[in-house]
Amino acid sequence: MTAVQMMRNLSGLGLLVMITACDTSTENIEYPEAGSPAAKLFLEKCSFCHVAPAPTAHAARVWPGVLQRMQMRMKAKGMPSLNNRTLADILDYLQRNAAELEPKK
Ligand code: HEC
Repeated sequence: MTAVQMMRNLSGLGLLVMITACDTSTENIEYPEAGSPAAKLFLEKCSFCHVAPAPTAHAARVWPGVLQRMQMRMKAKGMPSLNNRTLADILDYLQRNAAELEPKK
């Protein structure tokens, strides 16, 4: 095996480890309204770059600012940003399950 081949094998392994690590970390988060259209939309749009955060990660009033920043992150990556309808649905989902409305330990 040449050095180049070995490097390729190693980077492949690195990717695999990363994917596996991501999988295990989602297991610890409980997403409310599991299986509902809103929860599915949220998971689809918000677990692309990182593990989707728990809605309780922020109080309701903080979520709009976070979503705005995420729109910028998507644009920066050359991804289409979310349309107003999608954004409103995700914000709704996050806010009605946010820390402030329903405090969870
Ligand atoms: C284009 C990639 C991308 C997508 C898609 C994305 N994020 Fe992020 N997100 C990031 C990056 C990069 C960071 C770390 C830097 C930062 O905090 O802005 C981050 C950090 C976060 C954080 C932690 C920081 C904080 O303020 O709590 C939360 C929460 C978050 N994202 C929520 C979301 C939600 C909700 C969505 C779906 C609408 C989403 N993200 C979609 C890239 C993305």
